[in-house]
Amino acid sequence: MAKIAIVYHSGYGHTAKVAEHVRIGAARAEGAEVTLYKADDLTSPDAGPWDELAAADAIIFGAPTYMGSASAVFKQFQDATSKPWFSHAWKDKIAAGFTNSGNLYGDKSTTLLQMATLAAQHGMIWVGTGMMPGYNASTKDINAVHNRASFTIGLGTQSLTDKPAEETPDRFDLETAEMFGGRVAEATLRWVRGKA
Ligand SMILES: Cc1cc2nc3c(=O)[nH]c(=O)nc-3n(C[C@H](O)[C@H](O)[C@H](O)COP(=O)(O)O)c2cc1C
Repeated sequence: MAKIAIVYHSGYGHTAKVAEHVRIGAARAEGAEVTLYKADDLTSPDAGPWDELAAADAIIFGAPTYMGSASAVFKQFQDATSKPWFSHAWKDKIAAGFTNSGNLYGDKSTTLLQMATLAAQHGMIWVGTGMMPGYNASTKDINAVHNRASFTIGLGTQSLTDKPAEETPDRFDLETAEMFGGRVAEATLRWVRGKA
């Protein structure tokens, strides 16, 4: 059994939808117990479900990209992790990250690097997408491809800025989110089995 926590922020619901599909994909792995947490509830080191994060085998970070980095609420959560950092309480947990934004690229890399750096500060084991590039050949259809923006360090999805979360990100991005969740869950299960 492996406990997987997904900590995410979403201002307008789009990243929340991606988080839900990461959860669906992770929960498909046999033995994975997956729980979603709102970063909004974890902005103070002294309040929120920190004990549950301490008990998790993996923590997946999620945030929209705002102005070229993770949203401010996610950054508040990030800073609030200083308490587990002091005791290296998250050392050797699996970590991964995802971001959603309005543009295909949209400087999402900065957000993913921010999350990977956070994981490294905690001594966590970072898992990337493990996916091949999505749209990189004339034979491919940009509207019907997984990992469209070809991120490797973490999951990068796109939600068109004039559409509500019910309509965007599209099916292929949501499936990519499920594949990503599945990969992190499988990596966590392997890691937990190896430690036993
Ligand atoms: C303050 C703000 C800054 C944004 N900055 C970016 C950006 O740097 N790159 C980008 O691609 N989209 C940017 N967007 C668009 C959002 O990333 C996009 O609307 C996303 O779906 C919002 O996710 P959410 O619904 O989970 O809040 C920005 C939106 C807001 C409100």
